[in-house]
Amino acid sequence: MDIINYYKWRYATKKFNPDKKIPISDIELIKESIVLAPTSYGLQLFKVIIIENQLRKEALRKLSYNQTQVSDASHLFIFCNSTKVFEKDIDLYIENKSISQEVPIEENKGYGDFLKKTLLNKSSEEISEWTKNQLYIALTHLMTACASLKIDSCPIEGFDTSKYNEFLDINKKSLSAGVVAAIGYRSESDNSQNNKKVRKSAKDIFQVD
Ligand SMILES: Cc1cc2nc3c(=O)[nH]c(=O)nc-3n(C[C@H](O)[C@H](O)[C@H](O)COP(=O)(O)O)c2cc1C
Repeated sequence: MDIINYYKWRYATKKFNPDKKIPISDIELIKESIVLAPTSYGLQLFKVIIIENQLRKEALRKLSYNQTQVSDASHLFIFCNSTKVFEKDIDLYIENKSISQEVPIEENKGYGDFLKKTLLNKSSEEISEWTKNQLYIALTHLMTACASLKIDSCPIEGFDTSKYNEFLDINKKSLSAGVVAAIGYRSESDNSQNNKKVRKSAKDIFQVD
């Protein structure tokens, strides 16, 4: 399938087959697609919490307006953005960059100082808005990777953020749940798989100036 066919095949799955689990080898590919997502300055200020345990999925369903995708999916990927940038986040990035690109760390020091000057004084609100936006790029990588593997997905924003944060115990790590992907395999009885896509026409979206 080419990329456009992946996008046509994918739909927001409303009913998963709860008995069908994603093999670990595919989970590893999906994880790799998320790791490869671009982020602002390359800092990757997010964590993804993967939930496979049935009891935990059922508890999260209750915090997600009882959406059945949350408990019936094979796996939940909970994308959590950083709410604060720490000096050590930047130091670790500079260290990683130096090792990955085989450049002496002193050569990247100036860039590290620039990042610290730019980011460390920002408010938690500014950082959260900035880091949350970037989750959606990683989410898109996941959805495209899933479609290429014939794995269904449903992006989910319909959940109680503060209750998720409490359940996952992530406030203390300066993280907040931003968006969720329920992934697995569609149930044959999911009627929404037969729905025609509802999209504006390209002429209503693009303006060529
Ligand atoms: C950021 C985001 C959040 C969404 N949240 C939910 C959700 O909470 N529950 C749900 O069933 N669908 C959710 N959707 C799915 C959309 O309703 C769906 O993608 C849209 O109607 C287009 O349909 P399609 O994805 O099947 O082409 C969400 C989609 C996005 C991109």
